[in-house]
Amino acid sequence: MQGLFISFEGIDGAGKSTHIESLAAAFRAQNRTVVLTREPGGTPLAEKLRALALNEPMDALTEALLMFAARREHLLQVIEPALARGDVVLCDRFTDATFAYQGGGRGFDLQVLAQLEQWVQARPDGSLRQPDLTVWFDLAPEIAAQRLAGARVPDKFESQPVEFFRRVAAGYADRASAAPQRFVRLDAALEKHKVWQQLTQAFVRRGWLAIMVAANSGPR
Ligand code: TMP
Repeated sequence: MQGLFISFEGIDGAGKSTHIESLAAAFRAQNRTVVLTREPGGTPLAEKLRALALNEPMDALTEALLMFAARREHLLQVIEPALARGDVVLCDRFTDATFAYQGGGRGFDLQVLAQLEQWVQARPDGSLRQPDLTVWFDLAPEIAAQRLAGARVPDKFESQPVEFFRRVAAGYADRASAAPQRFVRLDAALEKHKVWQQLTQAFVRRGWLAIMVAANSGPR
């Protein structure tokens, strides 16, 4: 079985989490082994880096370096071994988030991020590890802010003003237009079951999910 690496992206409040869980269940229903993981995080060390990056004030380069340090650890310890076993890796955020948040949101130098991406995601054969597919939950920042309001105590990013998330959303749009084959854009403003429909269609089209499994699953 061929390993599959899927990342999920979008601004805070776009509604990724329930869909990731449902997708994991759909793959398991097809007897696939699923590794559910997230960035920053996914290993004990990377989770420590996450706690720092999400809670401590720091300059933009420090923040980007922490994101990529956590990513390197996560790739070597979790993602690459899982793909080598033929597992399905469902990763809540990956490098596009660094381009969107540190690049778009903070306005940090995209060329420096591109260099870090080359170093951190380089594979032994010289190729660059990227997700096989990136599912982008696209939602207007104003709607995301409404959804987030009062939901939980916001972290450093969640408490940013709506203008920050406009820049993050623009950062995602730039990444998506630079790699249209890798991205599938979902209209995350739709009702949950319609978002799920768009999501599963993308997987059925690629032959990764059977139509029946897709139809019988979904977020409750
Ligand atoms: P989460 O709340 O979706 O788990 O994501 C954690 C936060 O970290 C979210 O606000 C986005 C942010 N983030 C970055 O700023 N850069 C990154 O590279 C990643 C992976 C996440």
